[in-house]
Parts: sequence; C-alpha cells; structure tokens
Amino acid sequence: MEDLIIYSSTDGQTKKICETIKAHISSNNNFKIISLNEALNVNLEKCKKIILGASIRYGRHNKNVLNFVIKNKNILNSKKTAFFFC
Ligand SMILES: Cc1cc2nc3c(=O)[nH]c(=O)nc-3n(C[C@H](O)[C@H](O)[C@H](O)COP(=O)(O)O)c2cc1C
Repeated sequence: MEDLIIYSSTDGQTKKICETIKAHISSNNNFKIISLNEALNVNLEKCKKIILGASIRYGRHNKNVLNFVIKNKNILNSKKTAFFFC
C-alpha cells in the first residue's frame, strides 16, 4: 500500500516542494510523488495518506484540481489528507 503526494504544477515548483516535503516526512516514509494526471489512473482507495499540492495562477488553481477533489471527495474524506497551495 502506497501513500501519495499528488502535484499540480505548471513550471515544476510545486513538484519540487513535494520532493522537499517527502524528504522531510521521515526516512522510511512510503510516499510516492505523482502528477495530478497520473493520479487520475490510480485507485486512491489503496492509499492511507494523500497529500495534494497545487500552484495558483492568476488567482486560480488549475480547474483539474477542483474537479479531482470533487470527483474523489468521499475517498479523500476517508483518508488522512493534507492539501497545500503555492
Ligand atoms: C503567470 C503567473 C501567474 C501567477 N499567479 C499567481 C497568483 O495569482 N497568486 C499567487 O499566489 N501566485 C501566483 N503565481 C506564482 C506561482 O503560483 C508560483 O510561482 C508557483 O510556485 C508556481 O508553481 P508551479 O511551477 O508548480 O506552477 C503566478 C506565477 C505566474 C508565472
């Protein structure tokens, strides 16, 4: 069972932040970093913990971030989750 750090990024900054978060969680964490597009094809039920990071452009997130959260609301509510926005 893997835990996920999911990123939505335009220029790669959010992905770098995800990598730093993973490095600081603990040395034996089970987190895998994947893009939001990759996350669309993952069975989130198999994860225990999910971190979602997304950048902001012109005052908005990528609309795919909101769609992802709405689509997976029930699953996300049943997991340990953390969201961050940058
Ligand atoms: C064209 C453009 C628009 C941006 N608009 C916002 C904004 O509205 N609010 C904000 O806080 N940051 C804004 N930023 C800053 C980005 O969110 C920030 O640089 C972020 O780290 C980019 O992450 P990313 O490379 O993962 O997309 C903007 C940056 C760019 C280049």
